[in-house]
Amino acid sequence: MQNKTIIVTGAAAGIGLATSLRFARAGTRVLGLDRNPAIVDICREIPNFTGISCDLTDSAKISATLNNLGADNIDGLINNAGINPYPSSLPDTSETVWLKILETNLTGTYRITKAVLERMNRGGTIINISSILALSGARKNAAYAATKGALVSLTRAMARDHGPAIRVNCVCPGAVQTDMFEEYLNRCDDREQERDRIRRSLPLQRLGKPEDIAEAVFFLSSDSASWITGQVLVIDGGDSA
Ligand SMILES: NC(=O)c1ccc[n+]([C@@H]2O[C@H](COP(=O)([O-])OP(=O)(O)OC[C@H]3O[C@@H](n4cnc5c(N)ncnc54)[C@H](O)[C@@H]3O)[C@@H](O)[C@H]2O)c1
Repeated sequence: MQNKTIIVTGAAAGIGLATSLRFARAGTRVLGLDRNPAIVDICREIPNFTGISCDLTDSAKISATLNNLGADNIDGLINNAGINPYPSSLPDTSETVWLKILETNLTGTYRITKAVLERMNRGGTIINISSILALSGARKNAAYAATKGALVSLTRAMARDHGPAIRVNCVCPGAVQTDMFEEYLNRCDDREQERDRIRRSLPLQRLGKPEDIAEAVFFLSSDSASWITGQVLVIDGGDSA
């Protein structure tokens, strides 16, 4: 991945940050987008990593960002930004919340992917960060699970539309210790008991680290995965085994 250019969305924290650092360490030029303006400072001292404040709900900002960066010749796009505020069953999900989750997780992915595709080199790769909740049922996560399922379907559809020039794959993480996971724990009666319950339920007996996902994303983006497209890789400590 040396001397290549990739875009990572949601690069200021968690899986997006770990993934950005993994590529930057390998000599990839990383353009990290995040709605959190702190992204600019977070990567200021890190070689090969440029942070840009950009919210995926803002089409005009996405176009302006790519134009300002002169971001042509993109080799990779990691669609990582995602939200899961107010997890709830469908009847308990207001239309406002439903649309808000779709706006970032699905329409945001559509917007940035469409803009980047015009600038992507032959041999480029797209990785969509979905979730284990796309594949296995989980209570009180209707809107989030729906968006993550859509990313799996989008991956397969795009792999057929854009091969052989561009490979498109999907990663489905299980429980990974990030701000999003901590927010989930905060909603539980006893957060440490719940953390331990999840950990002990996994065949590998530990929660995921953002770096566990970053390694897989790096592999799928590299030439080592040159015959892999349209696939869904579950990384969940064996939860779905
Ligand atoms: N942590 C987990 O257990 C887990 C499990 C399965 C899937 N995922 C998925 O992995 C991805 C990363 O999750 P995480 O746990 O690192 O989350 P996180 O909340 O720690 O980080 C997400 C980042 O995305 C940014 N972001 C959110 N909305 C944005 C928008 N509209 N525009 C630009 N940036 C935006 C946030 O500012 C934040 O920096 C998400 O798509 C999430 O759904 C996480």
